[in-house]
Amino acid sequence: MTPADLHLTAAASRKGSLILVNRDHPLREELIPDLVPLTGGWPDQHLDRTAARMLAAAIRAVHGEGQILPVSGWRSQEEQQAIWDGSLTDHGPDFTARYVARPGCSEHQTGLAVDLALSADKIDFIRPEFPYDGVCGAFRRVAARYGFVERYTEEKQDKTGIAAEPWHFRYVGVPHAAILTDAGICLEEYPAFLREAPRVVRLENGRRVQVRYLPFCGTGTTRPAPGPCWQLSGTNEGGFILTVWEGQP
Ligand code: DAL
Ligand code: ZN
Repeated sequence: MTPADLHLTAAASRKGSLILVNRDHPLREELIPDLVPLTGGWPDQHLDRTAARMLAAAIRAVHGEGQILPVSGWRSQEEQQAIWDGSLTDHGPDFTARYVARPGCSEHQTGLAVDLALSADKIDFIRPEFPYDGVCGAFRRVAARYGFVERYTEEKQDKTGIAAEPWHFRYVGVPHAAILTDAGICLEEYPAFLREAPRVVRLENGRRVQVRYLPFCGTGTTRPAPGPCWQLSGTNEGGFILTVWEGQP
């Protein structure tokens, strides 16, 4: 066994950058995200290190510094609970179920989700304005190139269990954001989509990336690494997604 082997364990199936977190798939592993402060946003917001770097690059690419504000990044269980409780008090149960994930079931707790607002004098923390035109529209057009997807759309509401949230973006990584966007599917649909067939994408730099689904077989197994450049993420729904970059960068 080498350090580069794939360890397909129950714990590993519940963490990673592609985990599904929703009302039916709560966080089941205590995550210790690698958080960094978000620059250019409201104070005291944090995000996963890679997601933060890619978000900053995407905002820079559309010259959105100072206009596109990250208003909510990583949230602790306690913070999500406080948001849930506050929303119940202020807006009632129907609104809360539509716009706030139950504590333990929020993507924000992974450090991979961020709510973005167009800069304004007053910003609604739960439902910030993030329009489809102007600099926000420009951000949407480059988001997948930087690994982000708009997570909650009107048409996928029955699958996500959350109403349309044009402000909520989830970092999934570059090949996955491109696959999800091109296929018009949401993260809930990704495992079944990959189970149909492994997918291959060609990145803008010409490099090929293969993505496949591996089921968790119930007992931990180890497999040899598929090459020098790969990533394994749990799905939090009973399997793994293996990403393999072919050739040299
Ligand atoms: N607003 C999203 C669903 C959350 O609370 O995680
Ligand atoms: Zn959000």
